Amino acid sequence: MKRVALLLVFSLSTVLLSAQTTNVAKMNRFLDSLLRIMTLEEKIGQMNQYSSDFAATGPITKDGDKQTQIRKGLIGSYLNVTGAERTRSLQEIAMQSRLKIPLLFGQDVIHGYRTIFPLPLAEAASWDMDAIELSARIAAIEASAAGIHWTFAPMVDISRDPRWGRVMEGAGEDPLLGSFIAKARVKGFQGKGFGYTDAVLACVKHFAAYGAAVGGRDYNSVDMSNRMLYETYLPPFKAAADAGAATFMNSFNDLNGIPATGNRFLQRDILKGQWKFTGFVVSDWGSVGEMVNHGYAKDNYEAAMLAANAGSDMDMESRAYIQHLARLVKEGKVKMSVIDDAVRRILRKKYELGLFTDPYKFSNVEREKQQWNNPQHLAAAKEIAAKSIVLLKNEKQLLPISKQTKKIALIGPLVKAVKEHLGFWSYDWDDDSVRVPSLYQAVQNKVSSATQLLYAKGCELTDTSSTGFAEAVNTAANADVVVMYVGEKRDMSGEAKSRSNIHIPGVQEELIKAVVATGKPVVVLIAAGRPLVFNWTAENVPAILYTWWLGTKGADAIADVLFGDYNPSGKLPMTFPRSEGQIPVYYNHYNTGRPAKSETDVNYVSAYTDLLNSPQYPFGFGLSYTQFEYSDIQLNKSSFKAGETLTATVTVINNGNYDGEEVVQLYTRDITGSVVRPVKELKAFQKIKLKKGESKQVQFTLTANDLRFYNGQLQYIYEPGEFHLFIGGNSRDGKKVKFELKK
Ligand code: GLC
Repeated sequence: MKRVALLLVFSLSTVLLSAQTTNVAKMNRFLDSLLRIMTLEEKIGQMNQYSSDFAATGPITKDGDKQTQIRKGLIGSYLNVTGAERTRSLQEIAMQSRLKIPLLFGQDVIHGYRTIFPLPLAEAASWDMDAIELSARIAAIEASAAGIHWTFAPMVDISRDPRWGRVMEGAGEDPLLGSFIAKARVKGFQGKGFGYTDAVLACVKHFAAYGAAVGGRDYNSVDMSNRMLYETYLPPFKAAADAGAATFMNSFNDLNGIPATGNRFLQRDILKGQWKFTGFVVSDWGSVGEMVNHGYAKDNYEAAMLAANAGSDMDMESRAYIQHLARLVKEGKVKMSVIDDAVRRILRKKYELGLFTDPYKFSNVEREKQQWNNPQHLAAAKEIAAKSIVLLKNEKQLLPISKQTKKIALIGPLVKAVKEHLGFWSYDWDDDSVRVPSLYQAVQNKVSSATQLLYAKGCELTDTSSTGFAEAVNTAANADVVVMYVGEKRDMSGEAKSRSNIHIPGVQEELIKAVVATGKPVVVLIAAGRPLVFNWTAENVPAILYTWWLGTKGADAIADVLFGDYNPSGKLPMTFPRSEGQIPVYYNHYNTGRPAKSETDVNYVSAYTDLLNSPQYPFGFGLSYTQFEYSDIQLNKSSFKAGETLTATVTVINNGNYDGEEVVQLYTRDITGSVVRPVKELKAFQKIKLKKGESKQVQFTLTANDLRFYNGQLQYIYEPGEFHLFIGGNSRDGKKVKFELKK
């Protein structure tokens, strides 16, 4: 009921905000007339984006008097400028230019602006599209109140490699889940459409296949078949484009030998051609100029030519366009039509936002203040944070902990952490230590007055000193139950944060061992922006919650779960490896000619002789305080043809002691194909609520189109034959039936 109320509040506020739908004919007349009178330099100015000097999200260049450049119409957009006053002040300078074309302000609003939400990968673990859309909606309301027109999100890069620090920013390894989440985020950011002052332009990134960097090393090369590109890495981009995303951002990586920024196949053939994308493409930070490092451009002059001709409409921070495009046009190396197309795409977004009518409509100090500490936003942030937590283990129902427990020991380097909860890609507001509770504070607010909280830090996050262990062990020995809070620092995942070793850092797992040796019941909370490796803990600790980084109200959400005020429902959006050596490990792999026949089979099969043949935790995995039982699957027919539908029905029973939520997942396997097919593919899911003792029929309907894939000729087709269908609570366990797709 609460969420419905929240959504009603948002929709009402949206209706009350000034709204206008674009009259396309009128817009085109305006744009035509403006383009006719713009000089070449002014057009190129619209293709030029600088970062502010106040904040940088890349290697900053301090050059020249930017205010003069704005007055000359040589800067079309800024990033890293926030706040109603600051954006207004720069916009006032732009209004002094000859044509008074307004500036476009972009910002990395990745998981909240003032109210910080869980990391995107954490939100993906909620599998709750309404919650994910609401999170983006709130981010847009707060960001647009601070003068921001455009967010550089959603990041939709599929990744199968947790060594890559930017997995924290995406939705994990699966194309279908990633596509649903991409659509939810675009809808959330763009709201009811441009013209409403609480809608911001979305920016789908990083186009494309950035998450497949070799070795999980950021900015590294990507090489794959176009079939793999279309089957696994493009679907979330296509879903975002179909959802009406206003802009795309290309990626740093080279793809099959051609940097994405200069990749005509990606930007012109696929995005603007096949997908008929009418928005604009911004380069990533300096990626135009970086084509020189790639060895694809001789110099910035050539880089500007390659990028513009390949469909990169706006140059973020490399200065290649502003310095070289005019000459390239005069020399006929870049056609005027290329410039006009790029500029029209950019101006169209400024027009749709209503900036030509009122350049200051987003820079409203009063509105900014209203959204600065919005209690509904904080409540929503806590709600989705709780939904993002994944229960990995709960032996003997150690969790939830009773609020009447006499002595609880809180041990670990994160127990009193505050700003860590905000994760990467978040803004450190001066009052965060007031607004963001630590786990210690959240637990203190949760337990009874009779409960005594004991505390020991035990060790630091990353150093090797174990001098704090003795105090931690004594503290644990005096408690009835121990809650340990360990993990990565917030900035150990994120951009340029790839790690070759993704074990829990420092001596934290040794600390866990020392505390477990006391024989006390131990719960371990693990905070990270990526899957980590923690084999000993996984084997020897009775209760484990994966808490990611959950934002402003993250600690309160963790306390809700710890003490049973929320029954965890999260499911992993990425596979957790047993070791770095096992990477890449993902659920939708091919069978190979020699599949392992068991966890320990190494007899001339595709396996490691020194590791079990399964991941630590599979994609889609997550437990509950209650237990869910699945009936056998009922199919309405054992075979069907194209044009018909197949209905699969299961009954899910909550036969435990708590009300709970379950993500019922449906996977298929195409047994034989003209190209080899994955052993499982997620085809549908439903998140359901069941009171204790309640059962519910869950029905899925499939068509032949749901069974399509890209064949060797890149045709998106289905093929008749035998299929297996699985339904369960994760990608490993569940019921199975067979069906046939007939010619
Ligand atoms: C960064 C990131 C990109 C971000 C941009 C602006 O390098 O790759 O995701 O939106 O620069 O900060």
